[in-house]
Amino acid sequence: MDNKKTLFSGVQPSGRFNIAGYIGAVSQWVKMQEKYNCIFSIVDYHAITIKQDPQVLKRQIKEVAKIYLAAGIDPKKSIIFQQSAISAHTELTWILNCYGVRMSDLNKMTQFKDKAGKNQESASVGLFDYPVLMAADILLYNTNLVPVGEDQKQHVELARDIAKRINFQFGDLFVVPQAIIKEEGARIMSLLNPKNKMSKSDTNQNNSIALLDDIDLAKKKIMKAVTDSGSEIVYDKEEKPAIANLLTIYAQLGNREIPRLVKDYQGKGYSDFKKDLAEVVAKFLSDFQTKYNKISDKEVEDVLNEGAKRAEKLAKYKLDEIKNAIGVK
Ligand code: AMP
Ligand code: TRP
Repeated sequence: MDNKKTLFSGVQPSGRFNIAGYIGAVSQWVKMQEKYNCIFSIVDYHAITIKQDPQVLKRQIKEVAKIYLAAGIDPKKSIIFQQSAISAHTELTWILNCYGVRMSDLNKMTQFKDKAGKNQESASVGLFDYPVLMAADILLYNTNLVPVGEDQKQHVELARDIAKRINFQFGDLFVVPQAIIKEEGARIMSLLNPKNKMSKSDTNQNNSIALLDDIDLAKKKIMKAVTDSGSEIVYDKEEKPAIANLLTIYAQLGNREIPRLVKDYQGKGYSDFKKDLAEVVAKFLSDFQTKYNKISDKEVEDVLNEGAKRAEKLAKYKLDEIKNAIGVK
């Protein structure tokens, strides 16, 4: 082994992968591949905490893998694998359920409250336990760094707490992981309501732009995006949340600096700004989809098989160490 730090992250194969997940998470992964030992998972067991159509799920698992590759994750440098292929993830989840987590920890999780809504009593136990599976994903690989969007910060904090508690009981069994959250773009907001985050589970497709959206449709969505009162293009999250969000998307997908954009749009109105942003989004999607369309199903299959082999070795070694520490092996 080299002495590079280990980095782990994942995306659920649920809903349609949108520009928010790309900006908040995947785009920063690509740059980290040189510096760290990177492991990227397609977390299908997280996806089934919400009902999924089996055929759609199968397709979306491949889709996320292709999106990783099209975004620039290189299977020669990084491990790319499907979570359910490695049973150590669910085994460790059980162990953490018994040793490191309390009901009161999970009762605090805001994502559970958001997703379960008013029907917490009828939500699945899996949805409640979701953060523990995520902690298992992270802790199984001695992960140092976890690059995610802002919404996952609380889950990474829980993984840290679990690691510390178990280390206290059993010695230094786990590496205590740390979240990496971008300063800009960690929370992309909905196009029609900048108070809500852009989300894959949103039923109104006009709130978000999927990476595989038809390009003309994506342009229309930008033109229809809400703006704030007034007419100036300024970056002010409190007073002008809609424009601040559009500026962030522009900067992130167009490789520009926000202060520079604000300068360039001085004296121009929302309509000019949105027209240009629509072009930036169109160019980004078109380049992305060109790469995506070149990746064959066979290539994805090979990458996932190879990734599972590499992940399994690491996971098995760690799980044995943990089983030994708690006395079942
Ligand atoms: P998910 O699609 O829910 O599995 O999320 C994949 C990654 O994208 C995670 O790291 C999330 O934190 C991140 N993410 C999801 N929604 C957003 C958003 N609206 N803005 C920024 N990052 C996000
Ligand atoms: N829960 C994360 C999300 O929805 C996905 C995820 C699962 C993850 N396991 C992980 C992210 C481990 C980072 C590390 O976005």
